[in-house]
Amino acid sequence: MTATVPTSTATTRAAVQREYTGPEAIRVETVERPTPGPGEVLVEVRAAGVDRGVWHLATGRPLVMRLMGFGLTHPRQPVAGSDVAGVVVGIGEGVTRFAAGDEVLGTATGSFAEHAIAKEGQLVRKPDAMSFAAAAVVPVSGVTALKAVERAAIEPGDRVLVLGASGGVGSYAVQLAVAAGARVTGVASGAKADLVRSLGATDVIDYRTTDVTALATIYDAIIDIGGLTPLRRLRRILGTEGTLVIVGGEGGGSLTGGAGRQLRASLVSLFTRQTLTGILAVTAAEPLEALTTRIVAGSLAPALTRTYPLAQAGTAVADLAAGRIAGKAAVVVQD
Ligand SMILES: NC(=O)c1ccc[n+]([C@@H]2O[C@H](COP(=O)([O-])OP(=O)(O)OC[C@H]3O[C@@H](n4cnc5c(N)ncnc54)[C@H](OP(=O)(O)O)[C@@H]3O)[C@@H](O)[C@H]2O)c1
Repeated sequence: MTATVPTSTATTRAAVQREYTGPEAIRVETVERPTPGPGEVLVEVRAAGVDRGVWHLATGRPLVMRLMGFGLTHPRQPVAGSDVAGVVVGIGEGVTRFAAGDEVLGTATGSFAEHAIAKEGQLVRKPDAMSFAAAAVVPVSGVTALKAVERAAIEPGDRVLVLGASGGVGSYAVQLAVAAGARVTGVASGAKADLVRSLGATDVIDYRTTDVTALATIYDAIIDIGGLTPLRRLRRILGTEGTLVIVGGEGGGSLTGGAGRQLRASLVSLFTRQTLTGILAVTAAEPLEALTTRIVAGSLAPALTRTYPLAQAGTAVADLAAGRIAGKAAVVVQD
């Protein structure tokens, strides 16, 4: 396919983070419009999903991230945002799956902008039945939840505990576990219990009033997305041959952010019949297709509860970090 690369002198409006000062410092600026390289696509952004990774990149926390190539003293990528839904307006050399005019969703570099660059392999076609805002909140959280639920190896009738059930990843994990035949108990703040029930959870436990690890119920699988509960306490309520999947959690130490739990889980797993594992999800076409197929079929729905204009992208990220968003939120760049 012939590359259609717009001129590099064109500009675009983007929500920019120049320092690791946090989401409050994200400002909309006019910047040079990016140009797609080989295997890349230029997307005219209609909506961008808000997720925890965007907060991590705005704060440079945990610090280990800075050593992983995201920028030692300031963000290497100045435009915030990753999840994207929009229209292809330019294609780089060697791109075969997309052409100008295609409506897509996936992950991009700097999606809180009127234009963003995405790798061809990290995009899929947006189903007509989905709005751009709903499509934009699928990629990172949906793919992560899909991987977590697959790793949990759920059998019909299993009792599954989802910690962090009201959040971005959790809102998909609850639905996917229910679809796999599980009886799901969700852990979330009381104010978001109705949302978690609406996603299919049979019971909801408020972590602010109740320690789920002190209760008598034993689970076949635990998907741990929020709260950094110590491994030994999680193992107490996990069946002898149960599976614990650690996805993440906030509030850990400033260096690693609590990622040591995943490492410890993998080590302890070698000496027990319980399966204890962490996951690292990477957005790719195959899991995105699996998710959009389920969404079109009506067995999965993005829990989009709030939208923000581009000018309030920083507020959206701050609201997420403060727990003010139930399920998912999107930055709507262009209606
Ligand atoms: N491993 C991976 O590949 C991967 C991929 C994506 C994300 N992550 C990580 O996964 C975590 C969740 O991401 P997200 O986008 O779902 O975040 P989110 O939307 O902010 O959701 C966080 C969830 O955790 C809950 N929570 C907070 N404190 C809790 C506690 N003490 N006990 C139980 N639940 C608690 C929140 O409940 P309330 O809001 O009701 O208070 C909310 O449901 C983050 O740490 C993120 O970095 C990992």
